[in-house]
Amino acid sequence: MSKPRIYITRPLPAAAMRILEGQVEYHMWDRENEAVRRETLLREIVDVDGIICLITEKMDAEVIERAHRCRVIAQVAVGYDNIDVAAATRRGIYVTNTPGVLTETTADMGWAILMATARRVVEGDKFTRSGRWKTWELMGFTGQDVWGATLGIIGLGRIGTAIARRAKGFAMPILYHNRNRAEALEAELGARYASLDDLLRQSDFVMISVALTPDTRHFIGERELGLMKPSAILVNIARGPIVDQRALYRALVDRKIWAAGLDVFEVEPVPMDEPLLRLDNVVVPPHLGSGSIATRTKMATMAAENCLAATTGKIPPNVVNPEAKEHR
Ligand code: GLV
Repeated sequence: MSKPRIYITRPLPAAAMRILEGQVEYHMWDRENEAVRRETLLREIVDVDGIICLITEKMDAEVIERAHRCRVIAQVAVGYDNIDVAAATRRGIYVTNTPGVLTETTADMGWAILMATARRVVEGDKFTRSGRWKTWELMGFTGQDVWGATLGIIGLGRIGTAIARRAKGFAMPILYHNRNRAEALEAELGARYASLDDLLRQSDFVMISVALTPDTRHFIGERELGLMKPSAILVNIARGPIVDQRALYRALVDRKIWAAGLDVFEVEPVPMDEPLLRLDNVVVPPHLGSGSIATRTKMATMAAENCLAATTGKIPPNVVNPEAKEHR
């Protein structure tokens, strides 16, 4: 029997390639630091049984229609808003993601950004290197206290919960806003449910950890930012379009809020003329939430396993649209 054919949109770590070697025939986009070109993707997927892709690929109806043999789109990420899941389901294509393995790593990053923004670590680092540090200044680069401050978490899913667990060590009261109340977690974390408006009014730090869906697009806009404290910090480690970036820029310039830490942007890579990049009170890592060596490696191996399972006739372990089976 011939081996399944797959297309891989970016070089994967060796551990993931070992899962695929000998089991599949593959083509792969071979540039680490450049996303596959759209025309290449459209050409390469025509005859494949499976695709392993990243969040950088727009897996829309056009791609899905072309991939007429395809059984699986195996995303190397937990979020999959770049994939038209409904179109994939209609074509009987499984979509898989990598839940669980990146929860703690992403929570660590949420905290790294929160701390860096509150204590002006990036600004201070640039200052030290610039040669402008002349004396220890009493109020120089002073920031906001983290310990004892109120943390508001929007989206108490896996990652939001892991962030809340860490907050205990900083003696932070925790508020959360979620589609559903999580009463068991409230007891475990000492977290209190709040309406969105109450959370925004009362929190010193607002952490966004919800998935991007039509309901959460521009969930935080001018009105919501206007409710926050002038000393408050917004951290987004979920998806850029959840925050209206224009409104955020205005809120920061008008000092409606104190600072923002953004791991994600409405357009990625963030264009160099993005006004937020001109502000010192914004910390902007390049979408590094799950970016530890171990976690990114695990995500890639999970995607490889998902792809292999589906292309050899099994239901992949991390399928997000099991109903695709009915359309095969
Ligand atoms: C990364 O952003 C992911 O969704 O895993």
